[in-house]
Formats: sequence, C-alpha cells, structure tokens
Amino acid sequence: MCGIVAIAGKEPVPSRLLDGLRRLEYRGYDSAGVAVVDHGRLERRRAKGKIINLQAAIADEPLEGLTGIAHTRWATHGQPNEVNAHPHMSGNVAIVHNGIIENFRELRERLQAKGRQFESETDSEVIAQLIAQNMDDGMDTVDAFEAALKELSGAFAIAAIFSDDPDLLIGARKGSPLVLGYGNGEMYLGSDAIALAPLTRDVTYLEEGDWVILTRETTDIRNSEGERVNRPCVKSAVNDALIERGEYDHFMLKEIHEQPESLARSILPYIDQAAQTLNLDDVAHKMFTKADRAVAIACGTAYYAAHTAKYWFEQKARLAFETDIASEFRYREPVLPQTGPAMFVSQSGETADTLAALRYCRQNGTQAVAVVNVPESSIAREAEAIVPTHAGPEIGVASTKAFTAQLSVLAVLALSAAKVRGHLLPGDEANAVKTLLALPRKITEALKSQDQIREIAQTLTQSKDVLFLGRGRYYPLAMEGALKLKEVSYIHAEGYAAGELKHGPIALIEKDLPVVVVAPKDELFEKTISNVEEIRARGARVILISDEAGIQMAGNRADHIILMPEGDDISLPILAAIPLQLLAYHVAVAKGTDVDQPRNLAKSVTVE
Ligand code: F6R
Repeated sequence: MCGIVAIAGKEPVPSRLLDGLRRLEYRGYDSAGVAVVDHGRLERRRAKGKIINLQAAIADEPLEGLTGIAHTRWATHGQPNEVNAHPHMSGNVAIVHNGIIENFRELRERLQAKGRQFESETDSEVIAQLIAQNMDDGMDTVDAFEAALKELSGAFAIAAIFSDDPDLLIGARKGSPLVLGYGNGEMYLGSDAIALAPLTRDVTYLEEGDWVILTRETTDIRNSEGERVNRPCVKSAVNDALIERGEYDHFMLKEIHEQPESLARSILPYIDQAAQTLNLDDVAHKMFTKADRAVAIACGTAYYAAHTAKYWFEQKARLAFETDIASEFRYREPVLPQTGPAMFVSQSGETADTLAALRYCRQNGTQAVAVVNVPESSIAREAEAIVPTHAGPEIGVASTKAFTAQLSVLAVLALSAAKVRGHLLPGDEANAVKTLLALPRKITEALKSQDQIREIAQTLTQSKDVLFLGRGRYYPLAMEGALKLKEVSYIHAEGYAAGELKHGPIALIEKDLPVVVVAPKDELFEKTISNVEEIRARGARVILISDEAGIQMAGNRADHIILMPEGDDISLPILAAIPLQLLAYHVAVAKGTDVDQPRNLAKSVTVE
C-alpha cells in the first residue's frame, strides 16, 4: 500500500526523504509528495505518478527544512492526481497517511458544517482537518493530535508535522505498520525498516494503537490509552545487497535469480543436516499430532502456495486440509477445525484480509500458525506460532522468491506433520531432507532455461489470452503462472485444472491460442497429456513445462518445450515455479511494461 517516511532532523531533509520514498515506491506509485517545515511555514511539493515526477517538481521548486514527511500513494479514495496526493494540509498541520479512514464521510460532513474547506477527495485529508480544527478549538498540538486519533476508525499509519512547532513530528499506528528509527541527534518514522535503512538500523516497531511524539532528540511513545510505554529498540536486519537492484534490469529478475540462496535460507533453519532430520517437531507436535483438520488462509500468490501445500498435507500427513482466500473466509463465518490449527501464509504479514481472518480464528479459539516473511509484521505478532520464510525483502511487486520460500517452508511443515502423525516410513525423513537440501542446486539448474524461455516469450507478446493447465499439485502452479503473467504483462490469462477443461474452458480453444501446460512426469501425467491431445486437436499452441521423463514421453505433442530438472512430489512443484516466473518476466519485458511496478498494483495490501 502507501509508504511513509518522515524525519525530525538536524540537517536538511528533502533529499533524504526522496531517497526513503524511492525505497518505498514498491508499496504504491500513483502519486507522491513531500512537506517540510521551513522557517515556520509548511512547504509542500506533490506530483502525480512516480517518484521521479516528484523529484522533478522539487528540482523546479527546491525545498528546505529540517523536519519533513513524505508519502508514496496507492489510491483508495479519490483518483491518483496531484490534488489527492499526500501530504494533506490544513491550518498549521500537514499529514501523510497509509490505510483507510472508514468514518471519513461523517467526519468530513461535521467539519464542513463548521466551515472547513476540503480540497481533495481522499479519506486522509480529514485527519489534517480534524487536527487543525482541534487546534482552532484551543487544544495544544499534542492534545489536538490525540483527540483526532480517538475519532478515527479504520486502519492507519500517520505522520504529522506542524508549522508552529518546527522540531515536532508525531506518528501513530493502528492496523498499518510504522517503524520508529533512532539517528544521531535525529529521529525517523517509516512504513518499514527498508525505508529507514540508509538512515539507521536502530528501530522500534510500534505496536497496535501506539502513537509517538518525536523531536530531534526525544521520543515519547504512548499506547492507545495515552499511557507512556517503553518499546524495545532492535537492530533491523535489512541487508543492502537484498534491497539494491545490482546488475539486474529489474528487481523481479534479480529476485528470480536469488532463489537458490533464498530457498537455502528458508530451508536450512528447519533441518538438522548432521542428523538428516526435520527440525520442526515442536511446532508440528503442538499443531498437528491431534489435529482433526487444518485450514490455510492467504491471498494471491501466497494462497497458491497454501493450495499447493494442501496436496502435501493430505497425501503425506493424511490431514484434512482446506484452503481459503482470506477476503472470502473472513466474512463467511466458517466452521473452524476442532483440534487443528489455522495457518496464515503471507509475504508482508500485513495483508488486511489475512490479518482479519487470523483475528477471526483466534477469537474463536483456533490456534494460528503464521508462515510469514516479515517476522515483525502484524500477522507474525498476533499468531501463536510463527514459522518464518527467510526469503529476504521482496521489492518486485510480483511475488517470486517469497512464493518458493513459502512453498519450501510449507513442505517442511507438511513433512513434519506427517512425521508426528506417524506417516513417515523408515528412511522417508532422510529422503525428504535430501530432497529439500538439493533444491537450491536444482533451482540453479532450472534457471538455465532462461534463454530458451526468452525466445518462447517473444511468441506470446501479441496474444490476448493465455491458458495455463495443471493437474494435482501442479494445478495451483498453473494458477500462479497465470497470475504472474497477467500481473506483469497485462495479458489475460487463466489457470485451470486440466481435468476441468471439458466442463467449459475448452470452448475458448481456437487456432494458435497459447496453452502453457505444467506437467512433470508423475502418476497423473498421462491424464494431462490426454488433455493436451484434446486441445491440440482444436488448434491450440502448446508450451509444455516438464522434466526429462515427461518430455521424452510427450515432447513431440508440444509446440514448445521447457525442460525442468528431475525431482519428486515435493521438489517438482517448487521447481515448476521458476519457468513460470521467467516466462511472465520475459513476456513483460518484450512488451515493455513496467515489470517491477505494474499498473494498479501495490505490494502489501493493507486495505481490504
Ligand atoms: C502476486 C502477489 C500478491 C500477493 C498477495 C498477498 O504476485 O504478490 O498476489 O501474494 O497480495 O500478499 P502477502 O503475501 O503479503 O500477504
């Protein structure tokens, strides 16, 4: 969603705010803006579109000031234009906001009735107007901010500055993350530690309902009751190499190529290499030994990881395993497992629907296991057990390395569940460990198909539609392949279960329609190949992603083949993600789309 960075500084802040925004741009890129306090006046620059436009606006009309706030926006209420861009100002106050103010209409009407003039269509402006009204009513700055906070419902992270108190910066979080950073004679606020990384590694993750009064030298953190609280200062683990693009043209490509390492990082903590055993017995005992059923809830790509895990949990651990999309689950009043856990899969750990689903489960007494990439995130904090994926920061908006990290951790969880439920035969555990340890090397092998995939991608650039088919554990992969292609190339794509084709989608098949078939050789391979025959007979152009054994059997029935490494029922679905990611990436590059920041998207969806 939107990104916030703010500085109460001893040196000029505009260029550092811009730098922070650049690191946050992946969170939203509809518009951006900066406001500073300069000689007792609020000065603001805003621009529609990307940060580069804001940079140009500031170059035209330079800014000065030691205290400032900045924002990159993903539009919720109001079009992505300059007037709706943050910061919003009223009277002596300027604010930036991430999230949604649900009661903004009532507040706006009340404030308008008092004569306040609104300039934008956003929900956020009401925050500035409310604080300014409170100050006009005689409250001092801090009281005016606190009183405004109490009136806001919804989810938010806010940072505010004040023209008549040039050293003051106030922030608040409820539902959207906000990180406080400590510098040498300076204080910072940011939506995440990545934005603050060039400024400081010493950070405090504010807790739900916290707000903080900062000056260059002082911090005063309050909880939702207004009581002073201490929150720990920790060293953020942001690694510059992981958040720089380096030699790659795009973050997406860099993150695809990072997968041998990100996968190793994600698997190794959960394996005892010397003993050749899985290392998640404690969580598995607690969550799965007596489970009657488990549910896994997530959105988008994370949901497809959970859906793939369903096959592993059912087949390996013999555990009934349901998956659900968080936005559906949260409002359905679902019947929860009696003795089993609910699992929440999320890269950001902040996805609003997934978080709401977690809260629903906890309120109803179901244990929550978080499989998240950000251990400080809300989902991680609110779950009973957390099993982190260690993919590292993912900057490309389309998820790649986080997906394979989720798959690998879910695979370890499923195998551990199998172990504690007595479904691993002698030797199975050591074999599973070997499979997992071999994955990074096999991913490197899978990446070697890049040149061939680039050529195939050229043949898809003019396509209006692409189908993706898979069966069994490759069905969720087909859906993920379709999602990746539509996200970054804007080509309409759908993923179907191969066996479902005859029940409707086959009507779409016409001459030269590209159909990507994800089918390494397994027990269902021949059935999938029968489906391939059916679509070829109707003129489709088949791109077959398979392993050596599959290609030997069916390669001549495909127009293009993409070879993936050999593996087993655990490793092959993970390996299949690589060609699908590369295909989407190279089609997007060939079409010239904005690969890392596709239109209308934002990373970390903190509004429902
Ligand atoms: C697609 C993508 C999204 C996310 C989804 C959930 O490439 O990135 O579909 O997977 O928004 O986000 P997280 O995992 O942060 O909960």
